[in-house]
Amino acid sequence: MLVAPSILSADFGNLARDVEAICQGGCDYVHVDVMDGHFVPNMTIGPVVVEAVAKAATKPLDIHLMVEDNNFFIDLFAPLKPEFISFHIESEKHANRVANKIRELGIRPAVVLNPHTPIESVEYLLEYVDMVLLMSVNPGFGGQKFIPSVVERAVRLKDLILRRNPQCLIEVDGGVSDQNIQELKKAGVDVVVAGSYVYKHPQGVAAAIESLKV
Ligand code: DX5
Ligand code: ZN
Repeated sequence: MLVAPSILSADFGNLARDVEAICQGGCDYVHVDVMDGHFVPNMTIGPVVVEAVAKAATKPLDIHLMVEDNNFFIDLFAPLKPEFISFHIESEKHANRVANKIRELGIRPAVVLNPHTPIESVEYLLEYVDMVLLMSVNPGFGGQKFIPSVVERAVRLKDLILRRNPQCLIEVDGGVSDQNIQELKKAGVDVVVAGSYVYKHPQGVAAAIESLKV
């Protein structure tokens, strides 16, 4: 299992320190949640702060856009050369065009589905993306309760992926912990995002990351 801790649960007064801690603690990607206050009822960070995160990180960035205007934010973040930029299918009228644009910028495109968006809505996008992110909470905030139906959704998505683009990864985001990591693994999930579990773990971030590497 690849682990992408979400810096949303970091101490923003010590952001560089907390980014370095997860990188040294063995994470695979640094998950960056970008919220615009329109697509989700919360706002987070823009290019100046994400640039500071990129500077502190020794692992590639996984930028999760929760915004209405994907094109605007892709242009802002592309110069930072993240590994992935993911956009929500619910906020995009021209998903195929946006996925191609991300790839042309030298970044791996990923598409995100809210917990109740049908898996089939991305079937014909699978050949254009490198990853599908399934939300296991309603996006907007860290520390929410895991919605268990994501496990069944991952199994069904895996089936479509095997038919359309076997290279495509499945990522799950929201409420992930050592309590659900085994069932996610069994369902075929490749990458997990974890914010509060990693940053609030009593044994520290490295132990938390280790416990998710199943
Ligand atoms: C929620 C974000 C998540 C969030 C996960 O909108 O996309 O990445 O930070 O936090 P936890 O792991 O605390 O649910
Ligand atoms: Zn996220």
